[in-house]
Amino acid sequence: MIQIAIFASGNGSNAAKIIEHFKLQKDISFVVLSNNANAFVIERAKRLGVEVAVFEKNELYKKESVLHFLQSKEIDLIVLAGFMWLIPSNLVTAFPNKIVNIHPALLPKYGGKGMYGDNVHRAVIENKETQSGITIHLVNEKYDEGQIVFQEKVKITPKDTAETLAHKIHALEHLYYPLIIEELVEEIRKNKKEEITEEE
Ligand code: GRF
Repeated sequence: MIQIAIFASGNGSNAAKIIEHFKLQKDISFVVLSNNANAFVIERAKRLGVEVAVFEKNELYKKESVLHFLQSKEIDLIVLAGFMWLIPSNLVTAFPNKIVNIHPALLPKYGGKGMYGDNVHRAVIENKETQSGITIHLVNEKYDEGQIVFQEKVKITPKDTAETLAHKIHALEHLYYPLIIEELVEEIRKNKKEEITEEE
């Protein structure tokens, strides 16, 4: 089995797309973790039959309960999908190159603390950019600075507002995030097979 943990703080449309994408792949199992007990992602996960865990700030940053939970589930990949908090170094160290995030702009522009959600799109529109896009990247201890895995651009027309841009970006995210995760999963499958062959 390949165990994937999705961290999400809010709406969870990306989380749902990812879970739906892997519905027929029976060797994939998900757990959704959230810092927000009222987040809609929890409702979505439950509807999709996925286990949910809610944690508090000190369980992530002070105690090691989140880390221990992930280890007890033998998590292979952590997917951040609208997760608002910084990932602490104990998780980055325990899951090297196994934490991935999606950012709704073309990093390294429009990244960093405070650059999330509509703040990003408003800044892009205010700066009269002619394009924006999505960035899927590995996660390190700093906001939006890990190695870039994938980017896709979208044109901005003079009529675009932060709201219309947000729609365009979400459509790109829903299309590409599951596909890029599929590539990462394929790599994990290959490594697991090799491990089994070596043991034999
Ligand atoms: C996405 O735009 C993603 O880029 C950002 O947070 C948003 C989450 O949206 N990291 P949703 O909760 O998946 O709808």
